[in-house]
Amino acid sequence: MTEHATENKGCFLAFEGIDGSGKSTQIERLNRRLAQRGIHCYVTREPTDSPIGSLIHQIMTGRIRSDNKVVAALFVADRLDHLLNPTDGIKQKIDSGIPVITDRYYFSSYAYHSVDMPMDWVIEANSQSAAILRPTVTVFLDVDPSNALGRIARTRFHTELFETKSRLISVRQQYFQAFERLKDEENLLILDGKQSEDALAEEIWEKTKGFFGL
Ligand code: ADP
Ligand code: TYD
Repeated sequence: MTEHATENKGCFLAFEGIDGSGKSTQIERLNRRLAQRGIHCYVTREPTDSPIGSLIHQIMTGRIRSDNKVVAALFVADRLDHLLNPTDGIKQKIDSGIPVITDRYYFSSYAYHSVDMPMDWVIEANSQSAAILRPTVTVFLDVDPSNALGRIARTRFHTELFETKSRLISVRQQYFQAFERLKDEENLLILDGKQSEDALAEEIWEKTKGFFGL
């Protein structure tokens, strides 16, 4: 793990969880608290806003129809572009010492796509991203799918393709399977996402501030 947080490199936090688990809320809070301490992060998300990411968004909202295997492959391409594109690729930010926080990274692919296809394929298809940049830590916010759907229903006008209860139950199970498989090579922080926003923000702060040298 320390190899990813060597002196001149920024640390890289990936937040994971099923839809509605509170990732964006907590990323915003962590980012704000870091900024108050003078640490300015590059905050980003997948799917990205790149042309590949917008294609994915159009598929997720049902405007374009596509097979799940194609979607999985598009996420692989979107992630590589997220890492490597010359304008705002996260690899160059990390290399120049800027800390990066992302809302979703390759564990999202492992969990969401292994519902329809073998996890081995998904892990192998993402192996280039893993070789280029592993998160300093992956923070998983664990929330019960009914709870997460209740939160989503309260705040969004539409739900996306993957936001059904049975789907989210499978996705959550697949996350845990992926964590079990990769626990020796990944740094994982699995947190109880049912806590209040304040309590969770405090736990995340206490457990991640060290990665930022605080
Ligand atoms: P995600 O980015 O994982 O989809 P959000 O941060 O957008 O999740 O949160 C989904 C909804 O749940 C939002 O309406 C948010 O205000 C609410 N929410 C976030 N964290 C909590 C929490 N700890 N307890 C209750 N509701 C929460
Ligand atoms: P979005 O609404 O952008 O995010 P969130 O639910 O986190 O607020 O939707 C992203 C969706 O894309 C979400 O359902 C998870 C899915 N997804 C994949 O299927 N594979 C992936 O590799 C990634 C990064 C996301």
